[in-house]
Amino acid sequence: MNQFIERNIGLMIVLILIAVSFGGIVEIVPLMSQKMVTEPIDGLEPLTPLQLEGRDIYIREGCTVCHSQMIRPLRAEVERYGHYSVAGELVYDHPFVFGSKRTGPDLARVGGLYSDDWHRAHLLDPRSVVPGSIMPSYPWLFEESIDLEVLAKKVAVLQTLGVPYSDEDIANAANGLENSTEADAVIAYLQQLGTLITERR
Ligand code: HEC
Repeated sequence: MNQFIERNIGLMIVLILIAVSFGGIVEIVPLMSQKMVTEPIDGLEPLTPLQLEGRDIYIREGCTVCHSQMIRPLRAEVERYGHYSVAGELVYDHPFVFGSKRTGPDLARVGGLYSDDWHRAHLLDPRSVVPGSIMPSYPWLFEESIDLEVLAKKVAVLQTLGVPYSDEDIANAANGLENSTEADAVIAYLQQLGTLITERR
């Protein structure tokens, strides 16, 4: 029997896939029905349109390449960054921006840690507020305004994915943002990160 399987590579592939998928099923499927993982934590609101735009610029500029947004439940991390990340904080995130590498610090709870002015100075020239910083400058974020036409569509797409935006939210998505720059959006996004759980560093 063994030899028969080993000589039929197609059959072997199918059997390997079945064997491996058991591991996935056993680990992943039970999670899907757990409230802790699927229910938002108290007070969780979808991102405002400005914050949502900031999230997209954050992804576009590759901030995720140097910054994670995932505090693991390890003492060293919790002491440095605050309460570990919980699934309920992230249920409206499409896509997740966990990141995988920390050239800079984790940003999962950076909201409220610095003033807007600090972020402005930092994005324009990180060295002006953190001597020796190796983070790049992002001067163009201060020159570009937000694409307001696309913004309402982004909110609409998230609504179809189950994020609780109302039709009114979509209709009003661009309201009041005529003069906002990309930097305003990124800062609005950063300032809400992780603020629902107040156990901070
Ligand atoms: C090449 C790697 C790199 C990239 C890309 C990068 N950063 Fe950073 N970032 C760092 C480093 C290193 C630090 C720590 C030094 C400092 O504060 O400037 C940092 C610090 C920060 C801090 C302060 C965190 C704290 O807890 O003090 C924020 C906020 C931040 N970055 C936001 C951003 C945003 C937003 C982007 C994308 C527009 C970005 N970073 C892109 C490397 C990077």
